[in-house]
Formats: sequence, structure tokens, C-alpha cells
Amino acid sequence: MNTSPNFHGKTAIVTGGASGMGGATARLLAQAGANVVIVDMNTALATQVAEQIGAGAPVIGSVADSAFCRQAVQTAVARHGRLDVVVNAAGTILRADAETTSDDEWRRVMSVNCDGVFFMCRAAVQQMKQQAPDANNARGAIVNFGSIWAELGGKGHVAYCASKGAVLQITRAMALDHARDGIRINAVCPGEVDTPMLRGGGRAAPIDDARIQAIGETLPIGRVAQPEELARAVLFLASEQASYMVGAVVYVDGGYSAV
Ligand SMILES: NC(=O)c1ccc[n+]([C@@H]2O[C@H](COP(=O)([O-])OP(=O)(O)OC[C@H]3O[C@@H](n4cnc5c(N)ncnc54)[C@H](O)[C@@H]3O)[C@@H](O)[C@H]2O)c1
Repeated sequence: MNTSPNFHGKTAIVTGGASGMGGATARLLAQAGANVVIVDMNTALATQVAEQIGAGAPVIGSVADSAFCRQAVQTAVARHGRLDVVVNAAGTILRADAETTSDDEWRRVMSVNCDGVFFMCRAAVQQMKQQAPDANNARGAIVNFGSIWAELGGKGHVAYCASKGAVLQITRAMALDHARDGIRINAVCPGEVDTPMLRGGGRAAPIDDARIQAIGETLPIGRVAQPEELARAVLFLASEQASYMVGAVVYVDGGYSAV
């Protein structure tokens, strides 16, 4: 088997592909030969990334809408004939404890991070099950973005932690349900990654390089991650090299969760 992931002839949806780790994953998948379909709610950024990597027009909308998720899958299949990979990187963050989390904010975070992952996984599985399996009985692979705060508590982030915990349990439960359909479902858990979410998401003002460096120094590895360092793990999980990985949760966190 070739040692670098090869996605020639494969079709991959990347939600959140307009920015950060989704953007890095979309780039690496395109470099590895995949037909990439970017799904995001940010039209300007999604269009820019799609043009840079030679993908078709992005599919614009919110993953919190189940009809939109079905439409995103249908669009990928209409364009490329089948769906082999889905990467669920779209996400949002709320920096608030329970007392300062409104009902609407709670629902917003859960609807994007939890409902969005479920709706995309369900739509993907329904499509992948209809497809002919390859010689190894594989029909498709899904990689969901959890977080170290899916299993460790994150002070002042109750809704985000709850939503990411749900992502891991969606991953595990659906992985069991669909392993024998030839669909592998796994998750990556990033620690601190230098993306617009870390610098600005939910903050009154974006943080600067000095603060990013200070966050990095709190980690065992001594620095925050670059988005590509997560994207490489995602490509591995999505590739046939990870053929025996089912319902796994892979921490890519510079040692954050090892302490
Ligand atoms: N950055 C970190 O340190 C970190 C750590 C742990 C986990 N994560 C998770 O990794 C994933 C990627 O995060 P990132 O840091 O690259 O974020 P980012 O903010 O750079 O990118 C997130 C993308 O998701 C899109 N998005 C948001 N809500 C959406 C919706 N409802 N429908 C469609 N698209 C939507 C945004 O437009 C954006 O393009 C997220 O799920 C995030 O929670 C990030």
C-alpha cells in the first residue's frame, strides 16, 4: 500500500472548509487528488478557498439545518457521482459559564456543533450505504471534529464542552451502527490550534501573537498547533490506511490531555 494518503477519484465534503482546520483539510485533500466540496456559511471565505484549491463552487448554508445537509450531500453526488469522505469541521464557540449563557446561545452552540454533525453524518451514511463497496468492503469514511474539551472540562465554556462531548458519542454510536456497512466514523480532538476561532471566536477582541505564544507555553509541547498538523491526522483517518479504525477518538493536542 502507498504510504501517503491517496484520494484520487474520491469525493470529499469538508464542512467549515472556508477557514482554519477545515480549510487546511480541504487543501490537503485537494492536493491528495480528491474532488473537494466545501460546505460553509461564509460565502466570501468559502469561495476564496474553493478557488485556491480548484474545487467547484462552495455549497453555502448552515449545517444546523438538516434539509441543507441533505442538499449538500446531493450536490456532491450530482457533481462527482458518489461520496467517499465527509469531514465535519464546522463549529462555533461560546466563552461563557452557565449563569451567563442565555437559552438562545445554548441552542445556537448545540445546533451547530451537535445537530450539525449529526445531520451531516446521517445524510452521508444514507448516501454511502447506497454505493457499491470497494474490494475491502469500504463504502466511505467520516471524520468529526471533537475537542479536548469533549472529555476534559473547559472552564467558562459549558455549552461548547457539552456540544463537543455529544460529537464524540455521535461518532462512537454511529461507528458501531455502520461499521458493517463499510462506513468508518472517527473523531479528532484538537487542543489549541492557531485559527480564527482561537484568536477571535467568541472574544470581545482578537488576541495577538504574544498571547498565542503564551497559550503555547502552557502546553507540554510548548506551542499551539498549526491547522495543517490537524489536517494530516484527518487525512489519515479518512484514508484506507486507517482501514481498521472505527469509532476512534484521536487526540492531536501537543500533550494537553496526557497531563
Ligand atoms: N481552534 C482550536 O483551537 C480548536 C480546538 C478544538 C476544537 N476545535 C474545533 O475544530 C473545528 C474547526 O475549528 P477552527 O478553529 O478551524 O474554526 P474556524 O472558526 O477557523 O472555522 C470554522 C468554520 O466553520 C464555519 N461554520 C460555523 N458555523 C457554521 C454553520 N452553522 N454552518 C456551516 N459552517 C459553519 C465557519 O464559517 C468557519 O469557516 C471546530 O469544530 C472547532 O470547534 C478548534
